[in-house]
This record gives sequence, structure tokens and C-alpha cells, in this order.
Amino acid sequence: LNILFVASEVAPFAKTGGLADVAGALPRALSEMGHNVVVVMPRYYAIDKTKLTHIEGPLGVSMGFMGELWAGVYSTKLPNSNAMIYFIDYEEYFGRGGLYDHYGEAYMDNDNRFIFFSKSVFGLCKMIDFKPDVIHANDWHTAAIPLLAQTRFADDFGDAATVLTLHNLEHQGNVYKGAMDILESGWEHFHPEAYESMDRINLLKGGIAYADAITTVSRKYAHEIQTSEFGFGLESHIRAHADKLFGILNGVDYDEWSPQKDDKIASKYSVKNMKGKLLCKRDIQKHFHLEQRDDVALIGFVGRFAKQKGIELIAEIIEGVLKQDLQIVMLGTGEKWAEGFFSHIASKYSGRFGLHVGYSDVLAHKIEAGCDLFLMPSLFEPCGLNQIYSLAYGTLPIVRKTGGLDDTIENFDEAAGSGVGFKFEYASAHALYHTIMWGVGVYYNNPKAFQEMQKRAMCMHFGWDDAAKSYDDVYRYAIHKKRVSKL
Ligand code: ADP
Ligand code: GLC
Repeated sequence: LNILFVASEVAPFAKTGGLADVAGALPRALSEMGHNVVVVMPRYYAIDKTKLTHIEGPLGVSMGFMGELWAGVYSTKLPNSNAMIYFIDYEEYFGRGGLYDHYGEAYMDNDNRFIFFSKSVFGLCKMIDFKPDVIHANDWHTAAIPLLAQTRFADDFGDAATVLTLHNLEHQGNVYKGAMDILESGWEHFHPEAYESMDRINLLKGGIAYADAITTVSRKYAHEIQTSEFGFGLESHIRAHADKLFGILNGVDYDEWSPQKDDKIASKYSVKNMKGKLLCKRDIQKHFHLEQRDDVALIGFVGRFAKQKGIELIAEIIEGVLKQDLQIVMLGTGEKWAEGFFSHIASKYSGRFGLHVGYSDVLAHKIEAGCDLFLMPSLFEPCGLNQIYSLAYGTLPIVRKTGGLDDTIENFDEAAGSGVGFKFEYASAHALYHTIMWGVGVYYNNPKAFQEMQKRAMCMHFGWDDAAKSYDDVYRYAIHKKRVSKL
């Protein structure tokens, strides 16, 4: 199949979260299956143009009353793949220091930026003479694509099937209704079953209505988003489209995340020879100026400092937990109160608690490798990648029973000798505290069971090849549906 894969961020070019990991790895797996895959993302300021190939253009993108805007187009090969990635270059929208404001305050012109990007991919296909059988969009940033394919660009793309993946329902692209004029798709699509939400445009809602198929990144999350607890107001809309909703668990790029191959960690190790893991633990203790002790339980956290990730729960219990004999390290950035609060904890409990505020891929790898336990008490988690990386490194996850965390982590059962982590159900500080104590207790008092769990965890496999097969099925479903709708 000819597959056009469109995302706002693609690793290793730009990344703020797991979407980039997926957008880097899934197209590669699809290409390995034999599909002809083209990936498109914006050319942000941080992506060096001089390392890319400039494609003749420029590319004209009509933006309603704003007239036609002219974009540059660059390309290169997706690393370790035959797939090509194209970059849409428009200085005014994407030439900014950061990537885009993913979880803090949104840029005021995010509507124009991503409607522009969503429209540009159609012109790009014509420019490079690529006729997609399927256009795969991701999250609200590109959720206008299913409508655009059926309306504004129907002459050339009306037969292309569209698939929209929901990586996170919290961010929906809620924008001023005047942007309907920029979409140039007709105001008849501005109604509560499509793009309208309380007299504004909700891009994700519209994408859900118009895509031929929608997917989420775990099965459990596919069910959860149909409930008021997790649907962020779109639950009944999603229920109305549940017949075309599929849950496909993300995979892991094991070239990037395997202790036996990882060049970023102090010492490589494997399930057969775990000695290196201890060296990684010492390395982390050194990095964060913690007491150098092999025998202490070391717990790690890597992630956005956002409510989603359960940081409020962590903040509530951290001092109580630190009363016990254990160490904690955290890597993250995000909400300012959390950055400030955990900095305060770091100075109060130096030698026992380490913090790095910021983004560091190397440190993320070191934490996955060097810790004994990994903390991920998310309030909701569509899939979650860090807990799956942790399994590969034998770092046992402490997670809440939600979304992808529930689908990937089997709870420890001492009697049955099964499980790879420690789970709790209710999003309460009390439950989190006791689950941490449970994990730490097994570490100290039942080292044999702990090591057995580590082995089981390290032998688990969440490959992209399996996920790619499921996407292949969804693409064929969407193509069939599109054909039938045209009869
Ligand atoms: P989400 O996409 O909701 O942020 P995921 O678990 O799916 O959560 O993916 C997060 C990805 O971003 C992982 O690859 C993780 O290692 C990475 N990451 C998050 N915060 C940081 C950070 N501060 N430094 C380095 N990597 C980070
Ligand atoms: C989102 C979700 C995360 C998921 C990632 C990739 O950012 O929060 O759970 O793993 O997308 O699909």
C-alpha cells in the first residue's frame, strides 16, 4: 500500500513525548512489511536544513482569507529505513525555539499552524507524485486531514482512506470557529456531530467523525475513552463511532531500548548476565550525588511533569516515602509548581533524592538501566512507553491500573510466581504509598522473587512488527469502507 503518515513530531528529528517515538518507529515497521511509506512533519527551527535535501518548489498552501502561503520542502531518509520523510518549512509557523507548546500554554496561532500543516501534505503528495491509498493522521494537530481529503482536496484525494490515531484525548485542538474559513471545507461541517463544540471548532472531534477508522494506542484506553472518566467530554461522540475504533498497543524500538545494545548506559547487561545493571546503579547514584550503596532500593521516574503522569500523587507522598530506607531519582520538565516543589525536596533530602529538571535522552536511558523500580502512577495513560522500556531493563514498574499501563504490566502474584510489576487501582496517594512500599518490601525481603520478576520482565517482547500487522488490518478495513461508501 501507499501510506502517507503525518505527525507533528517524529523521533529522532523532534520529540516532546511518545508520539514522536511512535511516528519514528511505526512507519519503519510498515516499510519493512513492504509498504511504500512517506512520512511528513513540520521543519522546526531545531532541525538543521543543511543536512536535508531541498525539494524544488515552493509549495503553495491556500489559507482562506489569508491567501496563499508558500512553504519550502525538504526531505531525507527515515533513519534505518527505506521510508522517506518530508519536512514542511514555513518560518513564521515552525521557525521557533521550541517544538510547540505541548502541555503548557498553547501557542496563540496553533490553529493556523496545524491547519496549514494539514493542508500542506496534499500539495506535497502532488509535488512528489505520491498517490496514497491511506492517509494516517495523528492527534489533533493533523485531525483536519480526514475532512480535507473529502472536501477541499476531494478531486485528487477523495478515494484515499483516512485513519486517525488518538494518542491522547486531553488535547483536542479547540480553536476559534472562524478557522472554518481557513479550512475551506464548507460551514456545513460545523455542527455538533462533526467539528463544532460549544460554538468553537474541536479538531479532534471532527477527525473522529470523518476518519474511515480511528485507533487508540492500547485496548484498555479504547474502552476507557468511551466513559466520562477518560473521554474529556468526547465520550458520547466516541461511543457513536465505536464501530470503527480499534485499540492497538504501541511497540518498542528495541534497537534503541535494550540493555544489551545501549551505548548510553554505564555498562551493558542482559538477562543472562546482570552484573552491568549494578554498575548502572552506581553510575546513577554518582550522577545524582546519592549515597553510594548497592543494597538500597533505587526508584526512578522519567516523564512530563503533568497531572496526567500522577505527579500530584507523587508530591503528596514523597516525604513519607523518603522516611524509608530508599532512594529516588526523577527526570522531567513541565508544570512549574512541580519543578519548584521537587527542587525543594532535592535540597532537603540530598543524598537520597536526585532531580534533573529538563529533557535528557541519555539520562532517561541511564535511569531505566540503573534503577530497581520505576514509578509511573498516571491518572490516565493511553499507552505509555516508559513502563515498557523499564521491563526491557529489568526495572520493575509501579503503575496505576489504567490504559496501556494495565495492558502491559501484569501484577505480582507471589503464590503463583507470576507478574512483572506492582499495580494499584484507585488514584489516591494512600494507594500509591502502599504500592511503593509493597515493591520496596519485595526488593528487600524477597530478593529471589524480585530477581525472578526481573527475568520475566526482560523476556517480554513488545515488537513494532506485531503492531504494524494490526495497523495493516485497520488500513484494509478503512480502504474497504471507503470503497463501499463510494458505491
Ligand atoms: P507521553 O507521550 O504521554 O509523554 P510516553 O510514555 O508515551 O508518554 O512517552 C514519553 C517519551 O518521552 C519516552 O520516550 C520518554 O523516555 C521520553 N521523555 C519524557 N520526558 C523526558 C525527559 N524529561 N527527558 C528525556 N526523555 C523524556
Ligand atoms: C501520548 C500518551 C502516551 C502514549 C503516547 C504514544 O502522548 O500520553 O500514553 O504512549 O502518546 O502513543
